Amino acid sequence: MPISSASQTSGTALRALADARGFSIGAAVQSGLIADEPVYAETLAREFNMVVAEWEMKMDPIERQRGVLDFTGADAIVAFAAANDMAVRGHALVWHGATPAWVERSNMTRDEAMAYLRTYIHTVVGRYRGRVMAWDVVNEGISDQGGMRRTVWYNLIGEDYIEMAFRWAHEADPDALLFYNDYAAEGMNSKSDAVYELVKGLLERGAPIHGVGLQMHVSLSDFGRFGWLSAEQIAQNIERLGALGLQVHITEMDVRGVSGAGTPELLEQQAQVYYDVLATCLQAEPCTALLTWGFTDRHTWIRPFFGPADAAPLPFDEGYQPKPAYDALAQALTEAGVSD
Ligand code: XIL
Repeated sequence: MPISSASQTSGTALRALADARGFSIGAAVQSGLIADEPVYAETLAREFNMVVAEWEMKMDPIERQRGVLDFTGADAIVAFAAANDMAVRGHALVWHGATPAWVERSNMTRDEAMAYLRTYIHTVVGRYRGRVMAWDVVNEGISDQGGMRRTVWYNLIGEDYIEMAFRWAHEADPDALLFYNDYAAEGMNSKSDAVYELVKGLLERGAPIHGVGLQMHVSLSDFGRFGWLSAEQIAQNIERLGALGLQVHITEMDVRGVSGAGTPELLEQQAQVYYDVLATCLQAEPCTALLTWGFTDRHTWIRPFFGPADAAPLPFDEGYQPKPAYDALAQALTEAGVSD
Protein backbone atom coordinates (compact mmCIF):
# COMPACT_ATOMS: atom_id res chain seq x y z
CA MET A 1 0.00 0.00 0.00
CA PRO A 2 1.41 3.44 -0.83
CA ILE A 3 1.89 5.70 2.11
CA SER A 4 -0.60 8.51 2.38
CA SER A 5 0.81 12.01 2.62
CA ALA A 6 -1.77 12.58 5.33
CA SER A 7 -0.36 9.59 7.15
CA GLN A 8 -0.77 10.50 10.74
CA THR A 9 -0.18 7.62 13.02
CA SER A 10 -1.39 7.68 16.56
CA GLY A 11 1.80 9.29 17.78
CA THR A 12 2.87 6.02 19.36
CA ALA A 13 6.63 5.52 19.41
CA LEU A 14 8.09 2.98 16.98
CA ARG A 15 9.29 0.94 19.93
CA ALA A 16 5.81 0.42 21.38
CA LEU A 17 4.44 -0.49 17.95
CA ALA A 18 7.28 -2.97 17.40
CA ASP A 19 7.01 -4.47 20.90
CA ALA A 20 3.32 -5.16 20.35
CA ARG A 21 4.22 -7.08 17.21
CA GLY A 22 7.19 -8.99 18.60
CA PHE A 23 9.41 -7.17 16.12
CA SER A 24 12.87 -5.67 16.67
CA ILE A 25 13.37 -2.07 15.57
CA GLY A 26 16.83 -0.70 16.14
CA ALA A 27 19.49 1.86 15.36
CA ALA A 28 23.27 2.08 15.20
CA VAL A 29 24.66 4.15 18.06
CA GLN A 30 27.81 5.79 19.39
CA SER A 31 28.61 5.76 23.11
CA GLY A 32 29.96 9.33 23.09
CA LEU A 33 26.65 10.69 21.84
CA ILE A 34 24.70 8.66 24.39
CA ALA A 35 26.81 10.30 27.08
CA ASP A 36 26.91 13.83 25.63
CA GLU A 37 23.50 14.51 24.10
CA PRO A 38 20.56 13.80 26.41
CA VAL A 39 18.06 14.08 23.55
CA TYR A 40 20.04 11.45 21.62
CA ALA A 41 19.76 8.95 24.49
CA GLU A 42 16.13 9.83 25.21
CA THR A 43 15.06 9.43 21.60
CA LEU A 44 16.83 6.09 21.33
CA ALA A 45 15.28 4.66 24.46
CA ARG A 46 11.81 5.85 23.45
CA GLU A 47 11.85 4.76 19.81
CA PHE A 48 13.94 1.59 19.59
CA ASN A 49 14.06 -1.78 21.31
CA MET A 50 17.45 -2.74 19.85
CA VAL A 51 20.85 -1.11 19.34
CA VAL A 52 23.99 -1.94 17.41
CA ALA A 53 27.37 -0.24 17.79
CA GLU A 54 28.14 1.89 14.75
CA TRP A 55 31.90 1.52 15.32
CA GLU A 56 32.86 0.49 18.84
CA MET A 57 32.42 -3.30 18.64
CA LYS A 58 34.70 -3.70 15.63
CA MET A 59 38.22 -5.09 15.86
CA ASP A 60 40.09 -1.86 15.19
CA PRO A 61 38.58 0.09 18.10
CA ILE A 62 38.78 -2.96 20.40
CA GLU A 63 42.37 -3.97 19.61
CA ARG A 64 44.04 -1.05 17.83
CA GLN A 65 47.25 -2.06 19.58
CA ARG A 66 48.12 -5.72 19.60
CA GLY A 67 47.32 -7.31 22.95
CA VAL A 68 45.72 -4.16 24.41
CA LEU A 69 41.96 -4.63 24.41
CA ASP A 70 39.73 -1.61 24.91
CA PHE A 71 36.07 -2.35 25.61
CA THR A 72 35.15 1.10 26.94
CA GLY A 73 32.79 2.07 24.13
CA ALA A 74 31.36 -1.40 23.64
CA ASP A 75 30.69 -1.82 27.36
CA ALA A 76 28.96 1.56 27.53
CA ILE A 77 26.62 0.63 24.69
CA VAL A 78 25.77 -2.75 26.20
CA ALA A 79 25.15 -1.08 29.58
CA PHE A 80 22.87 1.54 27.98
CA ALA A 81 20.90 -1.22 26.29
CA ALA A 82 20.54 -3.17 29.53
CA ALA A 83 19.45 -0.07 31.46
CA ASN A 84 16.76 0.60 28.87
CA ASP A 85 15.72 -2.99 28.29
CA MET A 86 16.94 -3.02 24.69
CA ALA A 87 18.43 -5.94 22.77
CA VAL A 88 21.93 -5.68 21.28
CA ARG A 89 23.18 -6.72 17.86
CA GLY A 90 26.94 -7.21 17.81
CA HIS A 91 28.72 -5.80 14.77
CA ALA A 92 31.11 -7.04 13.48
CA LEU A 93 33.64 -9.72 14.44
CA VAL A 94 35.45 -10.08 11.12
CA TRP A 95 35.46 -7.15 8.70
CA HIS A 96 38.31 -6.00 6.49
CA GLY A 97 37.06 -2.40 6.91
CA ALA A 98 37.91 -2.37 10.61
CA THR A 99 40.92 -4.64 10.87
CA PRO A 100 43.73 -2.99 12.86
CA ALA A 101 46.72 -1.83 10.84
CA TRP A 102 48.99 -4.15 12.83
CA VAL A 103 47.14 -7.19 11.45
CA GLU A 104 47.58 -5.92 7.92
CA ARG A 105 51.29 -5.40 8.55
CA SER A 106 51.84 -8.66 10.41
CA ASN A 107 53.48 -11.58 8.73
CA MET A 108 51.37 -14.10 10.60
CA THR A 109 51.42 -17.63 9.27
CA ARG A 110 48.08 -19.30 8.59
CA ASP A 111 48.23 -21.10 11.93
CA GLU A 112 49.12 -17.93 13.79
CA ALA A 113 46.30 -16.01 12.13
CA MET A 114 43.84 -18.77 13.01
CA ALA A 115 45.02 -18.87 16.62
CA TYR A 116 44.79 -15.08 16.88
CA LEU A 117 41.31 -14.84 15.36
CA ARG A 118 40.01 -17.71 17.46
CA THR A 119 41.19 -16.05 20.67
CA TYR A 120 39.83 -12.67 19.58
CA ILE A 121 36.39 -14.07 18.78
CA HIS A 122 36.29 -16.14 21.96
CA THR A 123 37.24 -13.09 24.03
CA VAL A 124 34.77 -10.66 22.50
CA VAL A 125 31.80 -12.99 22.13
CA GLY A 126 32.53 -14.51 25.53
CA ARG A 127 32.60 -11.10 27.21
CA TYR A 128 29.07 -10.33 26.00
CA ARG A 129 27.70 -13.84 26.27
CA GLY A 130 23.98 -13.67 27.03
CA ARG A 131 23.91 -9.91 26.40
CA VAL A 132 24.33 -9.76 22.61
CA MET A 133 21.43 -11.54 20.95
CA ALA A 134 22.92 -11.65 17.45
CA TRP A 135 26.41 -11.18 16.03
CA ASP A 136 27.47 -10.21 12.55
CA VAL A 137 30.25 -12.78 12.45
CA VAL A 138 31.56 -11.93 9.00
CA ASN A 139 30.81 -8.63 7.29
CA GLU A 140 31.19 -8.08 3.54
CA GLY A 141 33.05 -11.28 2.68
CA ILE A 142 31.72 -11.43 -0.89
CA SER A 143 33.09 -9.14 -3.59
CA ASP A 144 30.85 -6.92 -5.70
CA GLN A 145 31.35 -9.32 -8.62
CA GLY A 146 30.12 -12.23 -6.52
CA GLY A 147 33.35 -14.12 -5.71
CA MET A 148 35.08 -14.26 -2.34
CA ARG A 149 36.43 -10.84 -1.38
CA ARG A 150 40.23 -11.01 -1.17
CA THR A 151 40.42 -9.53 2.33
CA VAL A 152 43.28 -9.63 4.78
CA TRP A 153 41.62 -12.63 6.48
CA TYR A 154 41.15 -14.43 3.20
CA ASN A 155 44.81 -13.85 2.40
CA LEU A 156 46.03 -15.00 5.80
CA ILE A 157 43.78 -18.04 6.31
CA GLY A 158 42.06 -18.91 3.06
CA GLU A 159 38.38 -19.09 2.25
CA ASP A 160 37.45 -21.23 5.21
CA TYR A 161 38.11 -18.31 7.56
CA ILE A 162 34.36 -17.69 7.31
CA GLU A 163 33.32 -21.12 8.52
CA MET A 164 35.94 -21.04 11.28
CA ALA A 165 34.71 -17.67 12.51
CA PHE A 166 31.14 -18.98 12.82
CA ARG A 167 32.31 -22.05 14.73
CA TRP A 168 34.44 -20.01 17.14
CA ALA A 169 31.62 -17.54 17.79
CA HIS A 170 29.24 -20.40 18.50
CA GLU A 171 31.70 -21.96 20.96
CA ALA A 172 31.85 -18.69 22.86
CA ASP A 173 28.08 -18.13 23.03
CA PRO A 174 25.93 -21.06 21.89
CA ASP A 175 22.76 -19.00 22.34
CA ALA A 176 23.72 -16.02 20.19
CA LEU A 177 22.28 -15.89 16.69
CA LEU A 178 25.09 -15.74 14.16
CA PHE A 179 24.74 -13.72 10.97
CA TYR A 180 26.54 -13.16 7.70
CA ASN A 181 26.06 -9.47 6.75
CA ASP A 182 26.62 -7.69 3.42
CA TYR A 183 25.62 -4.77 1.18
CA ALA A 184 24.24 -4.67 -2.37
CA ALA A 185 22.88 -8.17 -1.83
CA GLU A 186 19.39 -7.12 -0.75
CA GLY A 187 17.53 -7.97 -3.93
CA MET A 188 18.11 -10.59 -6.62
CA ASN A 189 21.49 -10.18 -8.31
CA SER A 190 24.79 -11.99 -8.75
CA LYS A 191 26.02 -10.78 -5.36
CA SER A 192 22.95 -11.99 -3.47
CA ASP A 193 23.22 -15.27 -5.40
CA ALA A 194 26.80 -15.59 -4.11
CA VAL A 195 25.68 -14.82 -0.54
CA TYR A 196 22.96 -17.44 -0.89
CA GLU A 197 25.46 -20.05 -2.10
CA LEU A 198 27.89 -19.14 0.68
CA VAL A 199 25.35 -19.55 3.48
CA LYS A 200 23.86 -22.66 1.90
CA GLY A 201 27.34 -24.19 1.82
CA LEU A 202 27.94 -23.26 5.44
CA LEU A 203 24.68 -24.92 6.45
CA GLU A 204 25.51 -28.03 4.43
CA ARG A 205 28.80 -28.32 6.29
CA GLY A 206 26.95 -28.01 9.59
CA ALA A 207 28.30 -24.58 10.46
CA PRO A 208 26.35 -22.62 13.09
CA ILE A 209 24.82 -19.83 11.02
CA HIS A 210 21.36 -18.53 11.82
CA GLY A 211 20.78 -15.52 9.66
CA VAL A 212 21.71 -13.12 6.91
CA GLY A 213 21.90 -9.36 7.37
CA LEU A 214 20.87 -7.16 4.47
CA GLN A 215 22.57 -3.81 5.07
CA MET A 216 20.17 -1.67 3.00
CA HIS A 217 22.30 1.41 2.43
CA VAL A 218 20.25 2.60 -0.54
CA SER A 219 19.56 5.76 -2.46
CA LEU A 220 16.30 7.01 -3.95
CA SER A 221 17.60 6.28 -7.43
CA ASP A 222 18.44 2.66 -6.52
CA PHE A 223 14.92 1.88 -5.56
CA GLY A 224 11.74 1.19 -7.47
CA ARG A 225 10.96 0.90 -11.14
CA PHE A 226 14.17 2.40 -12.47
CA GLY A 227 16.66 1.15 -9.93
CA TRP A 228 18.42 -2.15 -9.23
CA LEU A 229 16.36 -2.84 -6.15
CA SER A 230 12.66 -3.33 -5.51
CA ALA A 231 10.40 -4.52 -2.71
CA GLU A 232 9.52 -7.59 -4.81
CA GLN A 233 13.17 -8.55 -5.17
CA ILE A 234 13.82 -8.08 -1.46
CA ALA A 235 10.80 -10.29 -0.70
CA GLN A 236 12.08 -12.96 -3.09
CA ASN A 237 15.56 -12.90 -1.56
CA ILE A 238 14.20 -13.08 2.00
CA GLU A 239 12.01 -15.98 0.97
CA ARG A 240 14.85 -18.06 -0.43
CA LEU A 241 17.01 -17.40 2.65
CA GLY A 242 14.06 -18.31 4.86
CA ALA A 243 13.64 -21.56 2.93
CA LEU A 244 17.14 -22.50 4.12
CA GLY A 245 15.90 -22.05 7.67
CA LEU A 246 17.66 -18.69 8.15
CA GLN A 247 16.40 -15.45 9.66
CA VAL A 248 16.91 -12.12 7.94
CA HIS A 249 17.65 -8.77 9.59
CA ILE A 250 17.67 -5.48 7.74
CA THR A 251 20.79 -4.29 9.49
CA GLU A 252 21.95 -0.83 8.38
CA MET A 253 19.19 1.01 6.56
CA ASP A 254 19.56 4.57 5.34
CA VAL A 255 18.24 6.25 2.21
CA ARG A 256 20.43 8.70 0.30
CA GLY A 257 19.26 11.26 -2.22
CA VAL A 258 18.03 13.90 0.22
CA SER A 259 20.08 16.76 1.64
CA GLY A 260 19.47 19.38 4.30
CA ALA A 261 15.81 19.84 5.10
CA GLY A 262 14.91 18.21 1.75
CA THR A 263 11.91 19.11 -0.39
CA PRO A 264 8.45 17.76 0.42
CA GLU A 265 8.62 15.61 -2.69
CA LEU A 266 12.00 14.07 -1.88
CA LEU A 267 11.02 13.51 1.74
CA GLU A 268 7.91 11.63 0.55
CA GLN A 269 9.98 9.50 -1.83
CA GLN A 270 12.38 8.71 0.98
CA ALA A 271 9.45 7.83 3.24
CA GLN A 272 8.10 5.49 0.57
CA VAL A 273 11.39 3.55 0.47
CA TYR A 274 11.40 3.17 4.26
CA TYR A 275 7.78 2.06 4.12
CA ASP A 276 8.36 -0.45 1.33
CA VAL A 277 11.35 -2.05 3.03
CA LEU A 278 9.78 -2.31 6.47
CA ALA A 279 6.42 -3.52 5.12
CA THR A 280 8.24 -6.14 3.04
CA CYS A 281 10.18 -7.30 6.07
CA LEU A 282 7.07 -7.43 8.26
CA GLN A 283 5.21 -9.48 5.67
CA ALA A 284 8.03 -12.01 5.41
CA GLU A 285 8.15 -14.45 8.28
CA PRO A 286 11.96 -14.89 8.29
CA CYS A 287 12.54 -11.12 8.60
CA THR A 288 12.58 -10.30 12.30
CA ALA A 289 14.40 -6.97 12.70
CA LEU A 290 15.08 -3.67 10.98
CA LEU A 291 17.82 -1.32 12.12
CA THR A 292 18.71 2.09 10.73
CA TRP A 293 22.36 3.18 10.58
CA GLY A 294 22.12 6.03 13.03
CA PHE A 295 18.68 7.61 13.42
CA THR A 296 19.15 11.36 13.20
CA ASP A 297 20.54 13.31 10.25
CA ARG A 298 22.61 15.16 12.85
CA HIS A 299 24.91 12.15 13.08
CA THR A 300 25.21 10.07 9.94
CA TRP A 301 28.20 8.38 8.35
CA ILE A 302 26.75 9.40 4.98
CA ARG A 303 27.98 12.98 5.34
CA PRO A 304 31.72 12.13 5.44
CA PHE A 305 31.44 9.11 3.13
CA PHE A 306 29.03 10.31 0.42
CA GLY A 307 29.04 14.09 0.89
CA PRO A 308 26.51 16.79 1.74
CA ALA A 309 24.15 16.07 -1.18
CA ASP A 310 23.06 12.83 0.52
CA ALA A 311 23.41 13.89 4.12
CA ALA A 312 19.77 13.56 5.24
CA PRO A 313 19.22 9.78 4.97
CA LEU A 314 17.57 8.98 8.32
CA PRO A 315 14.06 9.10 9.88
CA PHE A 316 14.82 11.98 12.29
CA ASP A 317 16.07 15.39 11.17
CA GLU A 318 19.04 17.24 12.61
CA GLY A 319 16.87 18.63 15.38
CA TYR A 320 15.60 15.16 16.36
CA GLN A 321 12.18 15.85 14.83
CA PRO A 322 10.49 12.94 13.04
CA LYS A 323 10.51 13.18 9.23
CA PRO A 324 7.96 11.66 6.83
CA ALA A 325 10.22 8.58 6.86
CA TYR A 326 9.43 8.18 10.54
CA ASP A 327 5.69 8.29 9.90
CA ALA A 328 6.18 5.73 7.15
CA LEU A 329 7.90 3.32 9.55
CA ALA A 330 5.12 3.83 12.09
CA GLN A 331 2.50 3.25 9.41
CA ALA A 332 4.09 -0.02 8.26
CA LEU A 333 4.22 -1.26 11.85
CA THR A 334 0.64 -0.20 12.52
CA GLU A 335 -0.64 -1.97 9.41
CA ALA A 336 1.23 -5.14 10.33
CA GLY A 337 -1.29 -5.77 13.10
CA VAL A 338 -0.65 -6.90 16.63
CA SER A 339 0.74 -10.40 17.06
CA ASP A 340 -1.20 -12.88 19.16
C1 XIL B 1 30.78 2.64 9.16
C2 XIL B 1 30.49 3.67 10.24
O1 XIL B 1 29.21 4.20 10.06
C3 XIL B 1 31.53 4.74 10.17
O2 XIL B 1 31.33 5.67 11.23
C4 XIL B 1 32.92 4.14 10.26
O3 XIL B 1 33.87 5.12 10.10
C5 XIL B 1 33.09 3.09 9.17
O4 XIL B 1 32.08 2.12 9.30
N1 XIL B 1 28.84 -1.05 6.26
C6 XIL B 1 29.04 -1.55 7.53
C7 XIL B 1 29.27 -0.61 8.65
O5 XIL B 1 28.91 -2.76 7.75
O6 XIL B 1 30.07 -1.16 9.65
C8 XIL B 1 29.84 0.69 8.17
O7 XIL B 1 29.88 1.57 9.28
C9 XIL B 1 29.02 1.27 7.04
C10 XIL B 1 29.01 0.31 5.88
